[in-house]
Amino acid sequence: VFAHLVQAPEDPILGVTVAYNKDPSPIKLNLGVGAYRTEEGKPLVLNVVRKAEQQLINDKSRIKEYLPIAGLVEFNKLSAKLILGADSPAIRENRITTVECLSGTGSLRVGGEFLAKHYHQKTIYITQPTWGNHPKIFTLAGLTVKTYRYYDPSTRGLNFQGLMEDLGAAPPGAIVLLHACAHNPTGVDPTIQQWEQIRQLMRSKGLMPFFDSAYQGFASGSLDTDAKPIRMFVADGGECLVAQSYAKNMGLYGERVGALSIVCKSADVAGKVESQLKLVIRPMYSSPPIHGASIVAVILRDRNLFNEWTLELKAMADRIISMRKQLFEALRSRGTPGDWSHIIKQIGMFTFTGLNPAQVSFMTKEYHIYMTSDGRISMAGLSSKTVPHLADAIHAVVTK
Ligand code: LMR
Repeated sequence: VFAHLVQAPEDPILGVTVAYNKDPSPIKLNLGVGAYRTEEGKPLVLNVVRKAEQQLINDKSRIKEYLPIAGLVEFNKLSAKLILGADSPAIRENRITTVECLSGTGSLRVGGEFLAKHYHQKTIYITQPTWGNHPKIFTLAGLTVKTYRYYDPSTRGLNFQGLMEDLGAAPPGAIVLLHACAHNPTGVDPTIQQWEQIRQLMRSKGLMPFFDSAYQGFASGSLDTDAKPIRMFVADGGECLVAQSYAKNMGLYGERVGALSIVCKSADVAGKVESQLKLVIRPMYSSPPIHGASIVAVILRDRNLFNEWTLELKAMADRIISMRKQLFEALRSRGTPGDWSHIIKQIGMFTFTGLNPAQVSFMTKEYHIYMTSDGRISMAGLSSKTVPHLADAIHAVVTK
């Protein structure tokens, strides 16, 4: 009965790893998926994560019962505090509801379905370009997806005027997806002054902010700095949604641990929202997994582990920033034509190089360098050893 099916294409991001794994070349380099690698090119399990897991193993009172539908209560509280700040008015006034979800994707999907069921506007605006999974998540959640201008290829920076025009022309009440920091795939973020203008415009039109926070601490190295745009929106007393992921900042990729928070106008409304979120979650996956959320809770509740985490996080962010400098210098020393200063201006895990699909495919074929076809490279996958190889490839493709 399934014989009529056509072979589906690989995922544009995760498929890059599939192709990389098939390549026997010893010089191959995977700059596709946004996953941190050490200088030795190895995945990293943070020390604090190992310590937290040890604590969990030593605690013989731990059981494997189902979590409640909304997940681990302590994890939810600590996650809200991490993203909104301990002194957040929304937390103080108890008008926030947080549910544990399956990493960033799961949080976006649950939030999307909740909005499709209960919010009067069914259109969500996403940045052009954006993470390839965003349009799929929200379409399948039952929302209509439209885009707003964001990136200017001529400056390789923000198209702020286009952004303001498009949000200004959006219908009142529309949902707007905002990348909290380290925009994926461009690495281009608004300044704090621009965020303030975006906030004023959105609040004046009643647009609903839905933040995707996949890189808190990864962009600047500071958890508070990277959460600032979200906190500005919460400080004005209005509503918003926030999807949090612990994949990158705690290196918990495969644990699938994240949270969806919805900031409401009152505690009473927040309680009702939570009851409805449970109705979205129960038929989808019943309740979330326990292990990843327990690791996060151990780290966030313990001052020493928390401090140690911030140091490890900063070290990852700093290594990425250092890769940016090294790649920029390597191109400069080769005299590669073009302005490559965006490599050091963009922030977070990715550089949006400006290379086109044909150039990307040349680099993969001739240099065994793997990246998404839009020219995005994961800086976290680079090391001092591999920078010259990448610089040689970029130089070759732009001088060809
Ligand atoms: C990425 O953009 O590479 C990451 O967010 C991983 C993913 O799931 O696509």
